[in-house]
Amino acid sequence: MKKIQICMLIAIIVASVWVYVSREEEPPKSIQVGVSLYMENDTFLEGIVEAMEAEALLYEETTGISVDLNVSVANGSQREQNEQVKRYINLGYDAICVNLVDRTSAATIVDMAEVGERQIPVVFFNREPVEEDILRRENVYYVGSEAKESAIFQGNSVVDAYAKYGDIMDKNGDGILQYVMLEGELGHQDAIIRSDYSVQTIEDMGVTLKKLETGTADWNRQNAYAMMGKWLDIHGDAIELVLCNNDDMALGALDVLTEREMTAAVFGIDATDAGLEALDAGLLWATVDCNAEDQGCAIIQVLTSSILEGTAATTVSYLDGRYVRSEIFELKSEFWQ
Ligand code: BGC
Repeated sequence: MKKIQICMLIAIIVASVWVYVSREEEPPKSIQVGVSLYMENDTFLEGIVEAMEAEALLYEETTGISVDLNVSVANGSQREQNEQVKRYINLGYDAICVNLVDRTSAATIVDMAEVGERQIPVVFFNREPVEEDILRRENVYYVGSEAKESAIFQGNSVVDAYAKYGDIMDKNGDGILQYVMLEGELGHQDAIIRSDYSVQTIEDMGVTLKKLETGTADWNRQNAYAMMGKWLDIHGDAIELVLCNNDDMALGALDVLTEREMTAAVFGIDATDAGLEALDAGLLWATVDCNAEDQGCAIIQVLTSSILEGTAATTVSYLDGRYVRSEIFELKSEFWQ
């Protein structure tokens, strides 16, 4: 009996030492994350990726687990994005973060990231899939901001500005704001919702608008510059208000207005660094801080918790368990606060 007990004790000690030694020899733990962006040079997305990188570093400092982000861009091609995701999966990555090219292609990606028993966590961000695709299986999330809220903030800013500076904004004094609208990409939820609700908010609050032009400049400063240039050729000084679905397009409009020494009240959304500079300089009348920083942090928290604990992160708040919506803020230029 005693012999058996001694043997068991030795076995336990040997096993413990083995576990200890093998743990000591383990390579540093790391998480491999594949990120695919719809396009390169998108200012707002650059802000989100920067925030993801900063949060990944912080995560490593606090837990000792490194989060390695491999970022690729899909150049506006869903086929290319699917290839990138496939490559990440073949390389055995632990999680995939996707800023979709085509919002209707989420199901393909969710299914690709299910390999046998393995359900690789997928975090979609900024370009929102339909709910059905998010709920297709466990460990699929969406991080973004509320498009309607940003539009309402933009609309409110215009109404506030009009109450204070109606005489400056209404250049021809006819009691109507003649406006143009620079829209983001066709089919993007933020472009559709922001365009609708911004105008609706202004009108609902009693300011009369007249649409002169509306067109899609694909979120892009150069496109907006060209489009606004054409509209100024046609309408000249009659353009009083420029509603923009994002800051980059607002900056494009401001570039051409400044170049031609013309004025109009320009409103953006995003609060990118360049947008904030224009706000500080009193060129941009207002923007909406869509909190790229918070979105980037949330993506890392959602995916690390999903990989390591197989559950939703407790550090962020979810709507319906799968959606993280960052808090957003209205920002006005200092000259009329
Ligand atoms: C941002 C845009 C950005 C787009 C990319 C929008 O939410 O406001 O600046 O270009 O997302 O998908």
